Amino acid sequence: METVVFSCSEQDIACNGALLKRAGRILREGGTVIFPTETVYGLGANALDPSAADKIYLAKGRPSDNPLIVHISDMQMLDKVAKNIRPEAQRLMQRFWPGPLTLIFEKRPEIPHKITGGLETVGVRMPSDPIARFVIAEAGVPIAAPSANISGKPSITSAKHAILEMTGRVDMIIQSGDSTIGIESTVVDMTGELPIVLRSGQIGQSEILKAISSDEADYEAKCTRLRELLATLGAEHGAPKSPGMKYRHYSPEARLVILPSEEIGARLRQRMLDRSALSDEPSHSGEADNLFEDALQKELRLLSKERIRVLAIEGRAANYFGYGHSIGATASEIGKNLFATLRRMDEQKIELVLCEDLSRDFEGDEFASAIMERLEKAASKE
Ligand code: TXA
Ligand code: MG
Repeated sequence: METVVFSCSEQDIACNGALLKRAGRILREGGTVIFPTETVYGLGANALDPSAADKIYLAKGRPSDNPLIVHISDMQMLDKVAKNIRPEAQRLMQRFWPGPLTLIFEKRPEIPHKITGGLETVGVRMPSDPIARFVIAEAGVPIAAPSANISGKPSITSAKHAILEMTGRVDMIIQSGDSTIGIESTVVDMTGELPIVLRSGQIGQSEILKAISSDEADYEAKCTRLRELLATLGAEHGAPKSPGMKYRHYSPEARLVILPSEEIGARLRQRMLDRSALSDEPSHSGEADNLFEDALQKELRLLSKERIRVLAIEGRAANYFGYGHSIGATASEIGKNLFATLRRMDEQKIELVLCEDLSRDFEGDEFASAIMERLEKAASKE
């Protein structure tokens, strides 16, 4: 498949009008287009077309029953996609749209089951990226768009990675700047008694409850009720409610291990001791096996320095004997850098990535826990 690539910054929308219109036409007529959004790059197709999901998953390299998020450019489009929208949802849309929030509603019959993975519900999002909204408006139809990566790989947050990975797989790629948030949208179920976050993101569960609460007491009552609901939901539903979260995700080629920063430091120090002990006494291999019964420590000893990196918060990156790689100082910087950094590890042929557990650095920060959730998925082997 031939892929048209063109570059367009937010300031250039007017001068690139003709090309963006062409992107809209491709989408309307059944093609696939990769476009920027504020969260991650999306791989779009017409959400009213039953074959769109097949095209998207063919491009992503794996068949899937994973439900797709439907993107809209204005509130009129919402009525073509979803029904039974309650007042709390209206409040969330007023507060957070356009932006990194996906709301799950009952679907309209016009949305094919193939798009929703067979569900009677549909996830809807209005992105804030002006290029994304321009293209969706030009298409004139709602656009189904998962993250634009090959299935299982880290999401794509820069045009460079979209071009490297997806050229030949889609009809068009719109090359724009890096995604400003860098982590996918928060997915919130709006079909139950209270909005429940199914996939974390920049907007947290408490921010959502606050936005629909009349005052502090009402907010506290909602938090208590949510805990009760989550306890019963957890007991009744073994299956995850956001089906996409069960798949292997975000995985770099390198092995990724998350550890507290002190432990990374201790292991690297041990590695150096082990290596100097070995170079002094190269012949005692039996003893060495006992010394290195721990698999990770063994791996650390065997790999050359060039094949190991430590992903660390900016202030600590220098502590790791030259292995450190800063992923940013604040949660928002780290979110913005995360997926591109995982991809950079592969470009540099790193084999072992030790990543600092950042939960203590950003305690109570919901965006930081969304980042850690992505990292844990990337580190898991399932
Ligand atoms: O930020 C984003 O959301 C990006 C950009 C491109 O908009 N898109 C994205 O799509 O991350 P995708 O397909 O990679 O992830 C969709 C997530 C999955 O976890 C899926 O299970 C959930 O949304 N989802 C979609 N529709 C759903 C539904 N009807 N019920 C429950 N979960 C749903
Ligand atoms: Mg994805």
